[in-house]
Amino acid sequence: MSASAEAVPATAAARSTSPSALRFEGVSKRFSTGTLALDAIDLTVDAGEFVSVVGPSGCGKSTLLRLASGLSQATAGAVVTGDVRVSYVFQDPTLLPWRTVLGNVELVGELAKLPRSERREKALRIIKLVGLEGFERQRPGQLSGGMQMRVSLARALLLDPGLFLFDEPFGALDEMTRERLGDELQQLFHSRRFAGLFITHSVAEAVFLSTRVVVMSARPGQIVADVEIPFDYPRSTELRFTPEFAKMTGVVSAALRRKGKGELT
Ligand SMILES: Nc1ncnc2c1ncn2[C@@H]1O[C@H](COP(=O)(O)OP(=O)(O)OP(=O)(O)O)[C@@H](O)[C@H]1O
Ligand SMILES: [Mg+2]
Repeated sequence: MSASAEAVPATAAARSTSPSALRFEGVSKRFSTGTLALDAIDLTVDAGEFVSVVGPSGCGKSTLLRLASGLSQATAGAVVTGDVRVSYVFQDPTLLPWRTVLGNVELVGELAKLPRSERREKALRIIKLVGLEGFERQRPGQLSGGMQMRVSLARALLLDPGLFLFDEPFGALDEMTRERLGDELQQLFHSRRFAGLFITHSVAEAVFLSTRVVVMSARPGQIVADVEIPFDYPRSTELRFTPEFAKMTGVVSAALRRKGKGELT
């Protein structure tokens, strides 16, 4: 049986009971160069779902996220976002080097015109939440790569987004830091239950974080599997070493290997 056949019924049931934060309806994207990056994507992310996307390099994952954020427009189909705030976390932390940690996090509140005292109070609380208490007055150049990524996460959290878009946020980090941030991100998801769309090259990271893992084919990107991940939140770091976890990563990896769509549908 294919991974998608296992996964679809439970997902469909969840969809009927909660509003969608994000929906792709038959979405295709062809660039002006002629490249067809995405072909007929149907994908729904509901509030309280954390969906990871894995697929070969160049299959259209970043394109999918840019469409979701409105940075780019579909050439066919529709991208529908719910009435929620959207935050985008890039692979590069993209911090302002001359601003302190606090200044970088507060910037989003400044742009959203939050009153000064409110944005200061929120920024300090969120900096603590991502484990950076004591580093508020330091500048990005004085932080490690993992700490800079925490600042980037804090900045994205400031406005309490309903939809969180992540494009390989931990891709440049060493494995231990990456796992620690993964532990923290699923804790955040557990406590806030935003809708998440997370791009990664790591099958283990996708399975650890997500309620569902979507597998894409090589370009033009199509969805070839949609795998429900059954573990409860909060997830302990030890989950990664259980046979059940290995089984789920096996299902996703097998779908990735068989990414020719004819074999999976
Ligand atoms: N602005 C653009 N103009 C033309 N082609 C583009 C543009 N952006 C992306 N593409 C093409 O669309 C395809 C998908 O690119 P995309 O960046 O979405 O892939 P990806 O899955 O994120 O890859 P990676 O895993 O390497 O990050 C690629 O063939 C790429 O060359
Ligand atoms: Mg990409």
